[in-house]
Amino acid sequence: MPIETWFPLAIYYEDLPDAEKHRQSLTEAVLKLESEVTESRNHPGMAWTGDIHGVNQIHTHPDFAWIVEQVERHVLIYLQDIGVDLSKVDLYIQRAWSILSRTEEEVGAHSHNTAHISAVYYIQVPTDEMGDPGTLVFFNDARVNEVCPGLGSENTDIVDADNYLNQLYAAYPPIEGRLVIFPAKQRHAVTMNETEELRVSLSFDIVITAIETSAGTYEFLTPPPSQWKRFG
Ligand SMILES: [Fe+2]
Repeated sequence: MPIETWFPLAIYYEDLPDAEKHRQSLTEAVLKLESEVTESRNHPGMAWTGDIHGVNQIHTHPDFAWIVEQVERHVLIYLQDIGVDLSKVDLYIQRAWSILSRTEEEVGAHSHNTAHISAVYYIQVPTDEMGDPGTLVFFNDARVNEVCPGLGSENTDIVDADNYLNQLYAAYPPIEGRLVIFPAKQRHAVTMNETEELRVSLSFDIVITAIETSAGTYEFLTPPPSQWKRFG
């Protein structure tokens, strides 16, 4: 008796062919930006993230031009694959920042609530195979097969066979040179870097708006920023 599955989450990834060529210069650029920040807002065990340290506009920084171009190219492919008519939308990188995860540091569960599409690029990944280098984990908050809500929660815990029909998360170990693209609203986290090595990545938030020339604004699309008026 078959069981069919529906409503898949679309996670895109591409291993960028020129990654090795840009690895060192990108790492140096990220470390330089970190060194320029004087006030740390980090808690112990938390990876250093540029978005909470005012380093969130690397998309405008010339040192990151190559990866910005790659993000734009692959986000267009991703959107086409999920059925978006690119002639009707404009795309913006809203913010982009670096993440430095050192030994025993992690990124807690979150979503990118101000954006529509998010991307992450792994500049440098620990090679020590004895420990987890910090894995990207997407959580299955929709739980479409959880027939009794809460059935799989740790308090109830009566789902005794973990399988593909009830999985609670999907794990993506970091791969150096890999670009990963996903819906920004999908809750995710990065597990603890269990190695002694530095893990360096970049995060991008992308917003979709209506195009300038659309006759009126599509109901569920943000009008183009050029048509907004800031309060006087
Ligand atoms: Fe994130």
